[in-house]
Amino acid sequence: MARKILVGVAWPYVNGEKHIGQIAGAYLPPDIFARYQRMTGADVLMVSGSDTHGTPIMLKADAEGLTYGEVADKYHRLFVDGCLKMGLTFDLYTHTDTQNHWDVTQEVFTRHWETGFIYKAAQEQWYDPAVNKFLADRYVEGICPFCGYPDARGDQCDNCGRLYDALELKNPRSKISGSTDLEVRATEHFFLDMGKMNEPLLEWIKEGKEHWRPNVINFTRGQLELRELHGRAITRDLDWGITIPIGNYPEKRIYVWYDAVIGYYSAAVEWAKLAGAPEAWREWWDADVNPDARLYNFIGKDNIPFHTIIWPGMLIGYNFGASHLNLPYDVPANEYLNLGGGKFSTSRGNVIGWNTVLATYQADAWRYVLTAVAPETADVEFTWQDFMDRANNELVANWGNLVNRTLGFAFKRFDGVVPAPGVLDAEDEAFLAEIRAGFESVGALYGAVKLKAALLEVRRLSQRVNQYLNDRAPWKMIVTDRDRAATSIYVALQAIDWLKLLWAPILPHSSEAVHRLLGYDQPIFGRQYTEEVVDARGVHQVLRYDHSDATGRWEPSMLPPGQTLREPAALFIKLEEEAVPGLESKQ
Ligand code: MF3
Ligand code: ZN
Repeated sequence: MARKILVGVAWPYVNGEKHIGQIAGAYLPPDIFARYQRMTGADVLMVSGSDTHGTPIMLKADAEGLTYGEVADKYHRLFVDGCLKMGLTFDLYTHTDTQNHWDVTQEVFTRHWETGFIYKAAQEQWYDPAVNKFLADRYVEGICPFCGYPDARGDQCDNCGRLYDALELKNPRSKISGSTDLEVRATEHFFLDMGKMNEPLLEWIKEGKEHWRPNVINFTRGQLELRELHGRAITRDLDWGITIPIGNYPEKRIYVWYDAVIGYYSAAVEWAKLAGAPEAWREWWDADVNPDARLYNFIGKDNIPFHTIIWPGMLIGYNFGASHLNLPYDVPANEYLNLGGGKFSTSRGNVIGWNTVLATYQADAWRYVLTAVAPETADVEFTWQDFMDRANNELVANWGNLVNRTLGFAFKRFDGVVPAPGVLDAEDEAFLAEIRAGFESVGALYGAVKLKAALLEVRRLSQRVNQYLNDRAPWKMIVTDRDRAATSIYVALQAIDWLKLLWAPILPHSSEAVHRLLGYDQPIFGRQYTEEVVDARGVHQVLRYDHSDATGRWEPSMLPPGQTLREPAALFIKLEEEAVPGLESKQ
């Protein structure tokens, strides 16, 4: 049986256009990893969807004068559009307001209730008498009890990432009325008994986590070793979200984070239904069917506690009952990509929306630069100057020009076909062996989610081809010794044929183009498409990926001598200063 890999991607709140910091942190890395793994022959299931519930969406709807459902649908479609342009190959990108997701969430909730992992209790909460409402999550803001950040939200501090009870906020104020005259009132809620999970989670985190990133494992251990996990309310006094399957609580809803993480599981179930094989999700999720499936969760660092503590705790709690679900294998969380000395923030106006930038620049230029500067281990500062420099001096100069000059020369001087080589000398052989070794070295890095290091290694190998060509200078040699020139060009084309595969996870669009220029007809990758699915909750748009015709394999290809080349065209557009924001002024 092929290796089963579930690539879970953080479910974005659909409360606005996502920005490039979020692509670099959470959405692009899983696609690079998934594309690589599919090429190695693994059965990858890459799933996610829009997080349509909770106060982030409600606040946005209030601001735009739309209903909650309208605002969710609007930004869901915008996100899907960005995924298509960026080439993010979700096997299924859905959202949380589907009948399937409601059913799965309510089933998990019921199981948690039956196994005693959920209990009911009264909870004191901020209440805004001016509007007669309890203030859930982002409806209340105040000073962070841990770090003193002044605009901390009711559910989590954006500055230090800590989770706390909203009652611990200092100087709380209502986001609905603006009032600071808040009362503490009691309301009844369901709680997840996380206290019960402290020891089981410590046990789980103890072993087999050597491959976790230091920031993720250290944060998680630190939190668990405090042994302070306790009950967390997982319902809210709101009228937007999934209803509670136990008792009669029409005025309450399940907390958005409880249902969102279940999405990794429910989306696999929905994918299986759409594939016409309703039990197929078990190959990834059901520990009794396949305990060796590997589940990865790609997220930004603010999501770490939900993915390494709460979600695994929920899974362990679910497993108290009959069926057993697999726990995450790795949680490669990224730090932040910052712009202009602070986090991307809509209010400060320093947001670079990805739909906006994709309308202007090539997706692969972004994929390249955002991987080259990826905030894998520390926060990184994004500048437009750096974007332009890397696109022009690295991507275009190193790879784009190499492809153009080599294919251009072959096309013109060898009658538009791959020239037949003569006998390869020791240097040719050694050079090809060095590039071929990239399938090992680069593969190991992609497989370990060290994407930035993988990029550096491919770039080094591309540079080797440039060197080889400079040494051999076939454009001079062709005058005196056409056969030797043919051999050198063949060797360089064969190296490019391999490099196109080594680059493919990061640069899928341009690798596909190189592949076609080299004369191949069958694509490296599959095809993304959208579909409108109808269920009891309405119509929802899903994004899918069909790779039944994909031929890209993670192994050295054999470039056939005599294969007809296609007329070369430039792979990348060189960026000019006047077209890059913030740099026009230098003209
Ligand atoms: N909606 C959350 C955010 O944008 C992320 C949820 S990740 C989940 O920060 F998958 F766990 F839901
Ligand atoms: Zn804080």
